[in-house]
Amino acid sequence: MATKTEFGRAKASAAQARRYAERYLMNTYKRPSLVFTRGKACRLYDDKGRDYLDFLGGIAVNALGHAHPRLVRVIRREATRATHLSNLFHNEFQGTLAKKLARWSGMDRVFFTNSGTEAVEGALKLARIRAKQSGEGKTRILALENSFHGRTFGALSITATEKYRAPFAPLVPGVEFVRFNDVDDLESKFDSTVCAVVIEPIQGEGGIHAVSEAFWNRARELATGHNAALVADEIQCGLGRSGRYFAYQRFKGLPDIVVVAKPLGGGLPLGALLARESFASAFSPGLHGTTFGGGPLVCATALEFLQTVDDDKLLENVRHRGDQIRAGLEQLKARFDFIKEIRGEGLILGLELRVEGAPIVAEALCRGLVINCTHDFTLRFLPPFIIREREVNEFLEKLEGILRTRSN
Ligand SMILES: Cc1ncc(COP(=O)(O)O)c(C=O)c1O
Repeated sequence: MATKTEFGRAKASAAQARRYAERYLMNTYKRPSLVFTRGKACRLYDDKGRDYLDFLGGIAVNALGHAHPRLVRVIRREATRATHLSNLFHNEFQGTLAKKLARWSGMDRVFFTNSGTEAVEGALKLARIRAKQSGEGKTRILALENSFHGRTFGALSITATEKYRAPFAPLVPGVEFVRFNDVDDLESKFDSTVCAVVIEPIQGEGGIHAVSEAFWNRARELATGHNAALVADEIQCGLGRSGRYFAYQRFKGLPDIVVVAKPLGGGLPLGALLARESFASAFSPGLHGTTFGGGPLVCATALEFLQTVDDDKLLENVRHRGDQIRAGLEQLKARFDFIKEIRGEGLILGLELRVEGAPIVAEALCRGLVINCTHDFTLRFLPPFIIREREVNEFLEKLEGILRTRSN
């Protein structure tokens, strides 16, 4: 039955919202039956008023949790001014946001997009046009086994997982996959026909696997030696989640191009590709563009997000809470023999099991904990950067209770 909201608009009941979704949405996601209606900080609430501890953060998006007062204030303010102007004109926030991202990343220039996959497309195009302009005619792209870079054709073509790729073949040609952290394999596939090597410094969808220092350093050397782009996909692990601004900052060598998205817009859709001048300068007006990317409202919100991370020293919190979660997971590992391995750093953590993760995710939801599972066997934890000590304790307690049901 339709009810009136506080704004007087007709709102479908949760049951009706579910019915309409099943009838009218394309069949791309399997969803549980509950309907979340609002969130506050690290908690979500469903239509029955039940609360849930959010350790998924909208898949690494809600770094400041839900309804953060600073973001709410900026969104309200800018919504009354200008939400969209197009990229044919300057807006008040794009340049300032680009400057802040350049400072954080060590890159020189920025192009704003609407999503992660669109940022990846931009990075591939930038690498190709730069190689073309240098007259070297190189077009091959290297990516890693077990990678995930997005769902559009270019990004899908460098995504290794067969179940995502195969139904849509043929994909973009000229892509080859390197065995994860295998320096010999990288060396054997890297030659002067390669224009880019794309690496997630910590693979997210692939089950939280960190690239080794030796592999990164060799990729840096080979890219420099062959005048190719080293591209860091930091869409899931970047912008503070690893406890550093960027996960590649644990290595010495910088990438040439970086792609970001997820938390950047403070919950609004925003991505970006960042590049060193020597790569960024390959773009000139007309070569690349987007209608929505980098509008004033979303850029103002993104600036507020980045500023809040600095003002509230959230990187420190990410590291401390990450250590606390890891220590708790180690204790659980000693107790439950179906836990195989703990991986990740900061607040991008994975718990690999010897049993299927899906029933555990479902049980967690029943007990008021939102997590998810990737690659069938790895529970993935991506809580907001503002998570507090007592919420981590609550999470560990809940998780133990849930794992106990599995061992019975
Ligand atoms: C590492 C990585 N790259 C790219 C993407 C694609 O981003 P989006 O879903 O915003 O297109 C994702 C999404 O999960 C990701 O984790």
